[in-house]
Amino acid sequence: MSYAIIGFGKIGHALAKAFARKGIEVSVATTRDPESFAADAAAIGPTIIPKTLAEAVKADIVFLAVRFEAHPGVAKALPTWQGKTIIDVTNAYGVPPEELGGLPSQVRRASLYWRKTGQGLQPFGRRGP
Ligand SMILES: NC(=O)c1ccc[n+]([C@@H]2O[C@H](COP(=O)([O-])OP(=O)(O)OC[C@H]3O[C@@H](n4cnc5c(N)ncnc54)[C@H](OP(=O)(O)O)[C@@H]3O)[C@@H](O)[C@H]2O)c1
Repeated sequence: MSYAIIGFGKIGHALAKAFARKGIEVSVATTRDPESFAADAAAIGPTIIPKTLAEAVKADIVFLAVRFEAHPGVAKALPTWQGKTIIDVTNAYGVPPEELGGLPSQVRRASLYWRKTGQGLQPFGRRGP
């Protein structure tokens, strides 16, 4: 079983630290060249592996830890997400409700991945829209 965290900001770092504490290997990716955040990853631990987005999304289990507006870009990183487990740790904090088309934000996100996985997107610790 392989793991990846897409987004290596505040939440991505917190998730990576949880993996490091357990000694579990996990890829981390942003829009940037992996070398640009390799030192940050190494500072967390040797099991945190910087990769390109294209390489990281090959993992079996993908944690989605980007800002709301970035999730469509991640969805496009693979032609199909069939067979993958996507764990959605994002929320739409600060996104105007009209941009959500009257739907809860997780439904907006799930609709993108649903079409590509047939399984949908699992919210993680969700409390609000
Ligand atoms: N911070 C909190 O306390 C908190 C709590 C609960 C939930 N959340 C939610 O968790 C999510 C992440 O929050 P955060 O605070 O960690 O955000 P952040 O610090 O801004 O980090 C976002 C990360 O996503 C990367 N990114 C942006 N576009 C991307 C793309 N297309 N593909 C791959 N990586 C991309 C950014 O890297 P580059 O731009 O450098 O490429 C950055 O590493 C948000 O949805 C937020 O609402 C945050």
